[in-house]
Amino acid sequence: MNITILGPGAIGSLYAYRLNQAGHSVSLWGRHPASPVEFSLDECPVLSFANRDRHCLQHCDLLIVTLKAWQVEAALSPILEMLHQDTIILFLHNGMGTVERLQAQLHNRPVLLGTTTHGALRVTANEIRHTGQGQTLIGAWNPLGQQCQFVAEVLDHAIAPVKWHEDIRSALWTKLIINCAINPLTATLDCQNGQLVHSQYRSQLSAIVSEAAMCARTQTIELDDKALLQTVLTVAKATEENYSSMHQDIYNKRQSEIDFITGYVLDIAQKYQLAVPQNAALFQQIKQIEASWSQHD
Ligand SMILES: NC(=O)c1ccc[n+]([C@@H]2O[C@H](COP(=O)([O-])OP(=O)(O)OC[C@H]3O[C@@H](n4cnc5c(N)ncnc54)[C@H](OP(=O)(O)O)[C@@H]3O)[C@@H](O)[C@H]2O)c1
Repeated sequence: MNITILGPGAIGSLYAYRLNQAGHSVSLWGRHPASPVEFSLDECPVLSFANRDRHCLQHCDLLIVTLKAWQVEAALSPILEMLHQDTIILFLHNGMGTVERLQAQLHNRPVLLGTTTHGALRVTANEIRHTGQGQTLIGAWNPLGQQCQFVAEVLDHAIAPVKWHEDIRSALWTKLIINCAINPLTATLDCQNGQLVHSQYRSQLSAIVSEAAMCARTQTIELDDKALLQTVLTVAKATEENYSSMHQDIYNKRQSEIDFITGYVLDIAQKYQLAVPQNAALFQQIKQIEASWSQHD
């Protein structure tokens, strides 16, 4: 397939490299005009990719969006008109709400949503490291996307395991709620994920999860609060030495994805007039930290 990666950072470069190795024609669409872009993956040799090549973009069969959630609208809107109407667009980022913001421009196109637990790190401009073996779930956002189940097989050959999920919204909500619990707390407490397993955080985690699950129910997503809390604790334990992505963003003074994680829950809570005090407090704390940078730097 002709595949373009929009937002070739850590995770996008990992996908680009593995898809190239699997025999696909892969190009990048990064922020900077330099072309070609060259990088290695782990111990594998340097590969060269076309970047910001309009011809590649116009002829791509699959566009994989691996931007940070808050970058999606600004990056995708201007290139949509260059894409063929049949190009499949796969959104593969943390958080929710980006597709809704572009709904009017996307509803006539095949759109897929996905989530991945792979870990990737850009060590230098030309070196990508696959830091954690994970799995990827993808599914349809709209009826045209429903006809694109073969994409799971295509990706599975390159970066297994990739599974098609019939109810991807439910999977994304589960991931979102795990992120609501682990990300802002580890960022504000300045701690590794494992810290949250301690009993002193149990009631706060439980409240965060229950508030978010209540919001999910308004979207016809039925999730069990107790099972979700258990999943949060299992993930925190399994990744106990990791710093969450939001912790890393805040620590490095980079804009976090809070608007598309906790912020997504708050938007729904506001719409349905639901009280979500724990999530609202964490949202405010992260926003205050982010605002303090521009005041002091
Ligand atoms: N890294 C992981 O291990 C991992 C794992 C699971 C999920 N995720 C999720 O995957 C998403 C991407 O994460 P990441 O770690 O790969 O982030 P990242 O390294 O920051 O990648 C984002 C890339 O998008 C580029 N970009 C920004 N604006 C752009 C624009 N207008 N046009 C084209 N490219 C643009 C950035 O370029 P600049 O650097 O020049 O700004 C960067 O190369 C996030 O939602 C993250 O939460 C990441």
